[in-house]
Amino acid sequence: MVSTSSLVKQTGSDEAGATVGARIEFRNVTRRFAGKGGAAPVVAAQNVSLSIRDGEVVSLIGPSGCGKSTLLNMGSGLYLPSEGEVFVNGARVTGPNPQVAFMLQKDLLLPWRSIRENVELGLHIRGMDARQRRDRAIALMQRFHLKGFEDHYPHQLSGGMRQRAAMARTLAVEPTVLLMDEPFSALDAQTKMVLQQDLAMTLAEEKKTTLFITHDLVEAITLSDRVLVMSKRPGTIIEEIIIEIPGREDPMVRRRDSRIAAYVSRLMELLHIDDLVSSDAI
Ligand SMILES: Nc1ncnc2c1ncn2[C@@H]1O[C@H](COP(=O)(O)OP(=O)(O)O)[C@@H](O)[C@H]1O
Ligand SMILES: [Mg+2]
Repeated sequence: MVSTSSLVKQTGSDEAGATVGARIEFRNVTRRFAGKGGAAPVVAAQNVSLSIRDGEVVSLIGPSGCGKSTLLNMGSGLYLPSEGEVFVNGARVTGPNPQVAFMLQKDLLLPWRSIRENVELGLHIRGMDARQRRDRAIALMQRFHLKGFEDHYPHQLSGGMRQRAAMARTLAVEPTVLLMDEPFSALDAQTKMVLQQDLAMTLAEEKKTTLFITHDLVEAITLSDRVLVMSKRPGTIIEEIIIEIPGREDPMVRRRDSRIAAYVSRLMELLHIDDLVSSDAI
């Protein structure tokens, strides 16, 4: 049995209006973009409400173009909502916020900096002294199995290693909220499983609050406490699925659990994947 729950439980608000205990919260958020050449505006996300507690990992899935990346951009303060509000740690988001780190499909490593210097980048920008940032970078590189590659340059690493470096760089600044936009979607299936494992263990150990976008249903199920499903554009959240399989810190074990199939089946239903088989709409 796959259980679902009411979408947003609003249990009291603080002064700014945010839900108490939420690390990141979207409240009735709509984002429109001007249409090209006088065309009607595009409604990228419509009336989205979601709230993520400290240490929770939540995945967001939905059809391409439904507004997932737009939501993450609003979480990071790069875009502001057309309507509604976003809160991080109880404060309304009005611009980029150092408590939030963003990781994308592209590793965005700087080719002229060594891997260690890339991992240190955010710390450098924040003015941390050289010794301290070096120590932190080296510790993170060990955690992400990059020991021995400190002085390599990005072009000398495989795609999987580069994404490991990007994860280390993202965590180096000790964000309280991680926003991840399809971080593993360009990797081959086996490399992806290994990186999922690295990530899941770290998120559990460091109790990081995470909003994770993916098109990979099993990835969403194995990495998350909850999966939120969006409709096609204008995207809104149509379902919340709580993953009741133990061991979120160990996706390789979760992946082998017989309960996975029921969750995949429910997500396929919600995304109408069977209907797409005979359609030309993908
Ligand atoms: N900066 C922008 N300007 C204009 N339209 C945009 C912009 N960003 C996103 N959009 C539009 O908003 C919709 C949702 O985009 P996006 O959030 O990237 O979707 P998803 O990540 O779910 O695939 C798309 O139609 C896209 O073209
Ligand atoms: Mg996207």
